[in-house]
Amino acid sequence: DGDVYKYYSEGEWKVSSSGKSVAIINPTTRKTQYKVQACTQAEVNKIMETAKAAQKAWAKTPLWKRAELLHKAAAILKEHKGPIAECLVKEIAKPAKDAVTEVVRSGDLVSYTAEEGVRILGEGKFLVSDSFPGNERTKYCLTSKIPLGVVLAIPPFNYPVNLAVSKIAPALIAGNSLVLKPPTQGAVAALHMVHCFHLAGFPKGLISCVTGKGSEIGDFLTMHPGVNCISFTGGDTGIAISKKAGMVPLQMELGGKDACIVLEDADLDLVAANIIKGGFSYSGQRCTAVKVVLVMESVADALVNKVKARVAKLTVGAPEDDCDITPVVSESSANFIEGLVMDAKQKGATFCQEYRREGNLIWPLLLDHVRPDMRIAWEEPFGPVLPVIRINSVEEGIHHCNASNFGLQGCVFTRDINKAVLISDAMETGTVQINSAPARGPDHFPFQGLRDSGIGSQGVTNSINLMTKVKSTVINLP
Ligand code: G3P
Repeated sequence: DGDVYKYYSEGEWKVSSSGKSVAIINPTTRKTQYKVQACTQAEVNKIMETAKAAQKAWAKTPLWKRAELLHKAAAILKEHKGPIAECLVKEIAKPAKDAVTEVVRSGDLVSYTAEEGVRILGEGKFLVSDSFPGNERTKYCLTSKIPLGVVLAIPPFNYPVNLAVSKIAPALIAGNSLVLKPPTQGAVAALHMVHCFHLAGFPKGLISCVTGKGSEIGDFLTMHPGVNCISFTGGDTGIAISKKAGMVPLQMELGGKDACIVLEDADLDLVAANIIKGGFSYSGQRCTAVKVVLVMESVADALVNKVKARVAKLTVGAPEDDCDITPVVSESSANFIEGLVMDAKQKGATFCQEYRREGNLIWPLLLDHVRPDMRIAWEEPFGPVLPVIRINSVEEGIHHCNASNFGLQGCVFTRDINKAVLISDAMETGTVQINSAPARGPDHFPFQGLRDSGIGSQGVTNSINLMTKVKSTVINLP
């Protein structure tokens, strides 16, 4: 069926034997935009088998050659930024310019990873035995980093390309093979990206991309005995995967409720600009979005007014027109967001704008005077709705942040660097940004969450290390 995008297995584009497809609904038109193959478990088995075989040869390929291929893929990816970005616009309603940025950032990430890989994987350790009590200098230990085997990568809809390559590139440079299960929304952009790796000329079976229904191949993939590492970014599904996965390293990034703590001495224009960028870019559909503002009461009115003025300037509409606020990814997501808004309304939050929704398009909304008994104080809307909680002490803000089941990032705004550092120390999150909105990038920075926000640490270097294991050779002298 020419209308259904093929999946990628054994270095070839294939039609599934299921004869079935999965529809990708354009969030803007709410009509089917593309279709992808609904792969079967037997097809997953075949992919796992070839991934295992391909990995053995790949691990023996010189590191500089692996890097060379990755650099080639990065260049091809950037050349293809136009058509890939177009898919992102149609599949996930990402504003046109941001869609291009995602692809370019991905090319840069692949190149950076290749460079980082040749450095850190080209080095090992040399240890001697006489450091440890009771030992003579008779044992020399040489360590190196070896690949894990087959890495399963499951990126989310909000960065189908970037959060795929942030798993693919470290896996490959380290000598692993890679099986990609893209999100349904974003699957075609991901297939396009995989095609760039195909054109770069990686060995057959080293990279595969399997599409299909979660109910058919989801658990089957994550519990597959052929998988040696899982790198997942997404929501609650990650918690379920962690419980079911075998004894394999897990890298999980599972969302957040990033707090923005605003002190009395903060530069309120800077705060307002960052709340807009942090809270409303890609319509709030980022794990690292600002998801709750905790502002000192004495400056709350001034801050809310400044944010309100900026919200009024946000453009709302189609991603093709590069609007700031675009339709959220699905109807169920829009319904969930609406549920949080209605709960806040019923419990007496102040609406700084009128609530407005058309289809999946939700107008940006700032909710003031939110209290801890409202769902939106704790839950992640993943939409353009931002709650403001007024606090009377910094401790109150820190307490709210730490009481969350999430612990991804957070930010604090103050002109007092000493206070900022103390607050950062007190906030139980993977990262705290001082005087800027939370963000994952630059992509070589460590990126990690506490509690339900994840397992392991990401960022280029950490990902390479996570996808390797230390191997020792000990020379015993007579
Ligand atoms: O939501 C995915 C998360 O990794 C955010 O990335 O670059 O928007 O901070 P970023």
